[in-house]
Amino acid sequence: MAKYEQLAQELKTRIAQGVWQAGDKLPSLRQTVADSGLSLMTVLNAYQLLESQGVISAQAKSGYLVTPKPELIARQGEAFRYPERQKPIYLSDSVDINEFVFNVLQASKQADIVPFGSGFPDPSLFPQQALARSLVKVTRHMSPSFAADNLPPGNAGLRKAISQRYAKLGMSISPDEIIITSGAMEALNLSLATLTQAGDWVVIESPTFYGAMQAIERLKLKAIAVATDPQQGIDLEALAEVLKTYPVKACWLMSQHQNPLGCSLSDTKKQALYQLLSEHKVSLIEDDVYQELYVDSSAPRPVKAFDTEGRVLHCGSFSKSLIAGYRVGWVAAGCHAPQLQRLQVMSTLSTSAPMQLAIADFIQSAQYERHLKQLRKKLASRKLAMYQLLCAHLPESVGVNFAQGGYFLWLALPSHMDATQIYYQAIERGISIAPGNLFSNQVEFRHFMRLNASYECSPEIISAVVVLAELIRNYSR
Ligand SMILES: Cc1ncc(COP(=O)(O)O)c(C=O)c1O
Repeated sequence: MAKYEQLAQELKTRIAQGVWQAGDKLPSLRQTVADSGLSLMTVLNAYQLLESQGVISAQAKSGYLVTPKPELIARQGEAFRYPERQKPIYLSDSVDINEFVFNVLQASKQADIVPFGSGFPDPSLFPQQALARSLVKVTRHMSPSFAADNLPPGNAGLRKAISQRYAKLGMSISPDEIIITSGAMEALNLSLATLTQAGDWVVIESPTFYGAMQAIERLKLKAIAVATDPQQGIDLEALAEVLKTYPVKACWLMSQHQNPLGCSLSDTKKQALYQLLSEHKVSLIEDDVYQELYVDSSAPRPVKAFDTEGRVLHCGSFSKSLIAGYRVGWVAAGCHAPQLQRLQVMSTLSTSAPMQLAIADFIQSAQYERHLKQLRKKLASRKLAMYQLLCAHLPESVGVNFAQGGYFLWLALPSHMDATQIYYQAIERGISIAPGNLFSNQVEFRHFMRLNASYECSPEIISAVVVLAELIRNYSR
């Protein structure tokens, strides 16, 4: 552990012991330098680390203040009873979600909408200009054979750069098992198509990212949704029961910063999940598009890190951490890589070559790490600020689930409410939200909604929260 991490840990322990409490001012940088004998740089790094973790926040003219701990101000609301209200397992012979997802995505394209329903982070957090420079540079120097060079499995430089990022996590993933795709969506769809045939059973989380349900619908598969707790993640006991009872062909889930809940599995749980799947010889499609958006000083490792058999198809993307519209993602497909490439050639043929080259250029430079550090810090403080804003304005009966990392907050309205109705009313007032029905076809999630917390709490965002609170207060069936 570096010195600044040690100091951050000590300060955190003291905050946990109540030496400094929510709203208290931490000793100034100068004071801590004098007390600890460490350099100003070390102390500054420690404070910035705590800030990026949402433990303290920098206030103009006041120094660093201890932020209220989410657990202390957690609002569970009368309707936020997990997991008792939820069935551990929910079977669907056929999934029908695409039409609703399509309509919600179309509505979110309206100009000037307040994008609480958006799945992407605030685009102003992306280094668009620097990427444009990379794009110009690489297209100027493209070889005449660039189209053929970047056919599946994709650009060699980009695959190597991605495998080096895995190496930073202590994982050995050869560039040969990585396939570049048009966003994670293609990676996930190809993975599912590789593992299944129409009519097969697939395990998903409940609630889950709607893309999983769309893919299941398109491939005419059957879904088994397993209860997923907003803090602890998937219920492994229920999953074990499912694996004993049904001939499951694949499991599709998110182990980190789950969409829509925001929760992440502990390392112990990731390992137990892997062992369980391995015992039943079931492959895992690990959707890890928010992997880079963690708050701790070190990056969490995915379930793929425990994979000794090539059983995990790990899907990643640059859409959430670098740039949304370039549509570049990947899958580390283990032993399934050859089959997956063949399916890709039959569907999209390949990912846009200039986009692959531009991203390869950018992520191989020092700019990428700098950008990620800034992004994590901003997202952590914006999420906390949005959480506090919601707690201040929403009626007491609304629960707000806060999980570290990513940028989603999951809200539970009182159980008689239908978030889809609020969605339509909010759209009329120029605000989008993501209603619970997008993430499950169970009625249990009708009164939930996901909000995007990646935007700065500007006057416009504050007014939108006030309107949302008013719609909830005035709700009538
Ligand atoms: C959980 C999850 N997986 C996959 C995707 C798709 O990512 P991409 O834009 O890279 O296709 C999204 C996008 O919203 C997502 O939230």
